[in-house]
Amino acid sequence: MRGVRWTGAMGKLVFLGVWLGVLRMCAPALVEPTQEDVMRARRWWQDVDSLQLATGRKLYMQKCSGCHYLYPPHRFTPEQWRKNIAEYADEARLTPQEQELILRYVITMSEVDPRERRQTKKTGQKP
Ligand code: HEC
Repeated sequence: MRGVRWTGAMGKLVFLGVWLGVLRMCAPALVEPTQEDVMRARRWWQDVDSLQLATGRKLYMQKCSGCHYLYPPHRFTPEQWRKNIAEYADEARLTPQEQELILRYVITMSEVDPRERRQTKKTGQKP
């Protein structure tokens, strides 16, 4: 790292790093999908897999946290989520594909109580 000067850009990087750390600490509230969730989600979408749900979760965190905190998926019913996402898709500038992935994540996880999941998280299979 010799010769690298402390520039404004580096300051921004550090700032970003701190923020990512903060986001990471908040992340457990947003439950990670497990294989069990994928099986449940297949009731609605035959082609859904763990990558789709994990991507939906990531997109939800990236695209929907700009204006307000992330509403926990279990706070709304699937019907309410369909309505909400349709409403905010424009605000968040989602592509139709991103919209669908976010929808699949929040609807699937709307049936999961995060307090229950936290205890079993260690045994839960990571996507
Ligand atoms: C450009 C700003 C903006 C973006 C981006 C945004 N929202 Fe919102 N959202 C709002 C505002 C404003 C409200 C209403 C006030 C509040 O709850 O803070 C709201 C409220 C909500 C609510 C609560 C509705 C209710 O009935 O209580 C949900 C759910 C929601 N947004 C979901 C999303 C999702 C999902 C995304 C990403 C796709 C998103 N929002 C992105 C501005 C935004």
